[in-house]
Amino acid sequence: MITVNEKKFALQTANTTYAFEINETGHALHLYYGKKVRFADDLSDFGMIRQKREFITGNTIAYDQEHLALGMEDTCLEVSGPGKGDLRSPFAELTFADGSRTVDWIYDSHMVMRGAKVRKTLPGSYDIMTFEAGEGLLKKRAEEEIADVLRLSFLEKSYKVRLNITYLVYENTNVICRYADLVNEGEEDVIVNRLLSLQLDLPESGFEGIYFDGAWAREMHSYHVSLGHGMHVNRSNTGTSSNRANPFFMIAKPQTNEDAGECYAFNLIYSGNHMEIADANAYGKLRILSGMNDEGFEWLLKPGETLEAPEAVMSYSADGFNALSYNMHSFVRQHIVRGEWKEKDRPILLNSWEAAYFKFDEGKLLKLAKRAADAGIELFVMDDGWFGERDDDTKSLGDWEENTKKLPHGVKGLADKVNKMGLSFGLWVEPEMVNVNSELYKAHPDWVLANPKREHSEGRNQRILDLTRKEVREYVVESMRKVFGSANIEYVKWDMNRIFSDVFSQGEPAGGGLKNRQGEVAHRYVLGLYEIMAELTKRFPHILFEGCASGGNRFDLGILCYFPQIWGSDDTDPICRAEIQQGYSYGYPLECVSAHVSASPNHQTLRRTPMKTRFAVAGFGSLGYECNLSDFSKEQMDEVKDEITLYKQYRSVLQHGRFYRGGMGPLADRVAGGDGTSVLYNPTGYGNITEWTMVSEFGTKAVGMMLKKMVQPNTQNITYYPKGLEEENKYRFFNHELSYDIRDFGDLVNTVAPIHVKQDGLLIDILAKKIKLPAEKEEYVAYGSLLMNAGVALKQNFSGTGYNENVRYDQDFSGKLFFMEEDDGTVPVSEETVEEIRREVEEKEEPEETAAEEINTEEVPEEIAKATDNEGENSNE
Ligand code: GLA
Repeated sequence: MITVNEKKFALQTANTTYAFEINETGHALHLYYGKKVRFADDLSDFGMIRQKREFITGNTIAYDQEHLALGMEDTCLEVSGPGKGDLRSPFAELTFADGSRTVDWIYDSHMVMRGAKVRKTLPGSYDIMTFEAGEGLLKKRAEEEIADVLRLSFLEKSYKVRLNITYLVYENTNVICRYADLVNEGEEDVIVNRLLSLQLDLPESGFEGIYFDGAWAREMHSYHVSLGHGMHVNRSNTGTSSNRANPFFMIAKPQTNEDAGECYAFNLIYSGNHMEIADANAYGKLRILSGMNDEGFEWLLKPGETLEAPEAVMSYSADGFNALSYNMHSFVRQHIVRGEWKEKDRPILLNSWEAAYFKFDEGKLLKLAKRAADAGIELFVMDDGWFGERDDDTKSLGDWEENTKKLPHGVKGLADKVNKMGLSFGLWVEPEMVNVNSELYKAHPDWVLANPKREHSEGRNQRILDLTRKEVREYVVESMRKVFGSANIEYVKWDMNRIFSDVFSQGEPAGGGLKNRQGEVAHRYVLGLYEIMAELTKRFPHILFEGCASGGNRFDLGILCYFPQIWGSDDTDPICRAEIQQGYSYGYPLECVSAHVSASPNHQTLRRTPMKTRFAVAGFGSLGYECNLSDFSKEQMDEVKDEITLYKQYRSVLQHGRFYRGGMGPLADRVAGGDGTSVLYNPTGYGNITEWTMVSEFGTKAVGMMLKKMVQPNTQNITYYPKGLEEENKYRFFNHELSYDIRDFGDLVNTVAPIHVKQDGLLIDILAKKIKLPAEKEEYVAYGSLLMNAGVALKQNFSGTGYNENVRYDQDFSGKLFFMEEDDGTVPVSEETVEEIRREVEEKEEPEETAAEEINTEEVPEEIAKATDNEGENSNE
């Protein structure tokens, strides 16, 4: 809701309020952003919260002779420029034709559109279609949606340049968006050195900033810095939003945790170079800025032209990070993700990359697909290596014709066969790139971002196509149109595997004047990319597109406007992934993060982890498998089938539910006990335990996960605290645990085995196939309030003093799932109970399957007996 009285403005969402006013000099003074407050109907109480000024602050600049008490340095503003006394980093920097660089924004007019129908074209670009009176109910209709919109228009005081700031109020998600556009209304060129999207001047600076940085294979690691003094910059200059510094960030009052405390979140709907500045000044005021990175940026704005900056997103929570994330998740779900896949369940896929890399042919892929179909997987994805002469990463990018040696029946032949197995089919492309060793490069060596006067610096042996050029964009659209139309393709993984270098266009950026426009290339590239994505997603509305850039090198809201999911990281190790996915979860809903179960030892870390852990972590994203199922044993395949059945059962909760992190949040290492959960069960360090809960929309079902990195000896008790349940609902709580592998107990098996079993011998392998140790069973019925507040005291942890079926065995890297279902009063029978009954029946039917304790030599089957004999012979014991 937007309330305006004269030049006072209050923007209200369900739980937040944002307020500012225009002062006597025409500057927009920021007054308040925080918990929802009630103002007088005429906003006359703004006077109480307005900062008082009688005399100028010493050694600062008085704005003008009529306002000697007004110093810009000590004032909270909605927009700022350099040169009039404000020493903080500015919102916009311009160079006028006479070389002057002072910028002073003075209010000119405003326009309010309640319940405006806005149609998004490019991210950050709106055509306001019509507007109607109303309360601004949020509704998304196809490409249209309704928001309350306020457009403020400023004129530069001495030069004819207009700055429009548009606020969009999304009431029920507690999000306010804001973007800027600059119009040259004069007769002379203006150079734009900086045009940002968001400025928020807070009157106090005692915040912690929480940012997400990383690198390839270790994206989204949160870190926090004190924003009390000086300037902190989070920025990307890779040409993409980058794995080095995600544009999403938060600020929080110290002591804020997952469930309590004041915090703000910010993001940018943009996929290129960006920067987020937190500038605390000498007067304890904190300026937050975000927008396009100005390093190397220079935009020539000719008379009559407009430059539009991307849209920024902000939200506030008085109740900690989980509530803040929920605002962001709801906003992304309702207003960012579009098209047919917006609310649809995402399919479980099998991706060929880590299963085969470049080394495959149709036969190998079909074998893999068959295994996938048998396991209940729904979509088969052929990754890199299917086109041109692509046997490694040095060639063929740009030549999007199938390799007929690998695929004698073409993409279509393969897709048809895969479809016949009951799977849908998808493939990998990297449309923005070209290898020098390709037909495309031979034909158009100038179509890349490169300066012909310099030796080019390559990344992954490839170059970036110059998407600022129309003919290049047309080629990309046309070549992809052919690929996507060549078979029944229902999914596309759109990759982008290098960062920018040698940024130089050999074409004619819009308006000509090559020499003066190179500072525009990085931004024009992103606009070109959006144009291509818009065109292809419009032409192929049924395709589920997945973004990827060497994993998470372009994980942002701009991409999510077109592609509903993004490959979170090339790192599929669940221990790394848990941290990465938790990082994403602060700003992005987890169904947008695709996550795969992969091989153990893992291909990026060589770490061995249990299958159940890999599944538990990947299950909290859009689930896929990326491993060679063709080599899996029957036992492993059974486990995969079991997981897939389970995931399908809970998919709607996991993909559309409300997500909660356990523990104390990213500021937790300030809290005694370290991991932010409890001193008792994690005495030694931050993040040893990860706890997640996903709750269905109406709170009737929930899935929990608890991941332990390292075993801490003699920590017998552990409590799982679900969150987000309905206090008054009764739930059946149960765990999903299959059984334990006796080999995990090593030599200890001999304490119960009637015959000696050599730890790494053949016998133990045979026994392990026959005998599984029943795992602990957790099953309770309790009210939501009890579950959430007292927690579930889980079975005693194995601590070296004894073991039976009521002991919980969590080895290093153990991840376990819990389920909560509203209890409707019928006798609770968990899957585990059913499984147990099934086992009992089977055991009765097959008497040779004996339990470990019952083994005696007379009853040992022949093959085991033989192995025992051999072991006995070879043994020195
Ligand atoms: C990137 C992606 C991987 C895979 C390879 C193929 O690294 O992130 O998932 O698709 O490219 O070359």
